[in-house]
Amino acid sequence: MTFIRSGLAALTAMSIGCSAAFAAPITIKFAHVVAASGHPKGEAVAYFKQLVDERLAGKVALEVYPSGSLYGDDKVLEAMQLGDVQMAAPSLAKFERFTKAFQIFDLPFLFRDTAHAEAFQASDAGRSILSEMEKAGFVGLDYWSLGMKQLSANRPLVSPDDAKGLKFRVQPADIIEAQMKALGANPQVLAYAEAYNALQSGVVDGAENPWANIWSAKFYEVQDGITETNHGAMGYVLVTSSEFWDGLPDDIRAELRAIIDEVTLRERDLAASMNAGARDKIAAAGSTIRELTPDQRQAWVTAMKPVWDAFEDEIGADLIAAASAASPE
Ligand code: LMR
Repeated sequence: MTFIRSGLAALTAMSIGCSAAFAAPITIKFAHVVAASGHPKGEAVAYFKQLVDERLAGKVALEVYPSGSLYGDDKVLEAMQLGDVQMAAPSLAKFERFTKAFQIFDLPFLFRDTAHAEAFQASDAGRSILSEMEKAGFVGLDYWSLGMKQLSANRPLVSPDDAKGLKFRVQPADIIEAQMKALGANPQVLAYAEAYNALQSGVVDGAENPWANIWSAKFYEVQDGITETNHGAMGYVLVTSSEFWDGLPDDIRAELRAIIDEVTLRERDLAASMNAGARDKIAAAGSTIRELTPDQRQAWVTAMKPVWDAFEDEIGADLIAAASAASPE
């Protein structure tokens, strides 16, 4: 009897051991809308997967869905709340339905360059904005960078008057819509995946994008040229749901956190190098890049900056002042 009982106990212990050893890995579905390679976000997510495969093999399986193949940015946050996708990195402009906290990043001519935006993101004010999403059930894991936005259209854009009456594809953000209206242009909210066809077929005339997007989505092919306005800093939030993040075993959450810190540094380097590279490749492909003289650029500032007044109360004058004053160390 004793022998049978201890035999049973040993079998039970073995099966518990086996089920732990063979427990299914935790799946992280990561959905994004850009190309899997040739774009800083696409390549950063691929690096994220590489590190997860190396360091959390058998424990976490990261599945990457690029180019909007699982969800576009219009659906991905709702899908995350439902647990159908676990991570994404939509642009800051895409969070407005859930929080107005990131609106500051859409103000035209606030950030001089990506380093300026990154300095603000690293400040106390920038970090506290990131935690605003908790109210909507999201965890902002970090900011990722993209680059400065440029304007393009199917005709030359040199002075703000050139944009009058044109239709511009925009992301779903009140400030960006107001910025286009301030130019006398018509903003049209369209998903990223629809932008190329809309530009090609003339559904819209123009768009605003950083170099990496203009290159990787080939927008330059269907535009007259690109005007180097550098009128806004575009970046992302690496986001997950609170339910998923808080439900992870502590050791796995800690390892993922360490991996994300490493990937974030890589992503920012990729954003800097790939944007510069994309500008060169667009020029080499024969597309016209219009550089503005200081006076010409000032005319765009004068035309767009009045939108600050309309949103100052909503965003907060103190926050705008903190962002303006942020400076890289
Ligand atoms: C856009 O919709 O223009 C961007 O948010 C796409 C992206 O992820 O860079």
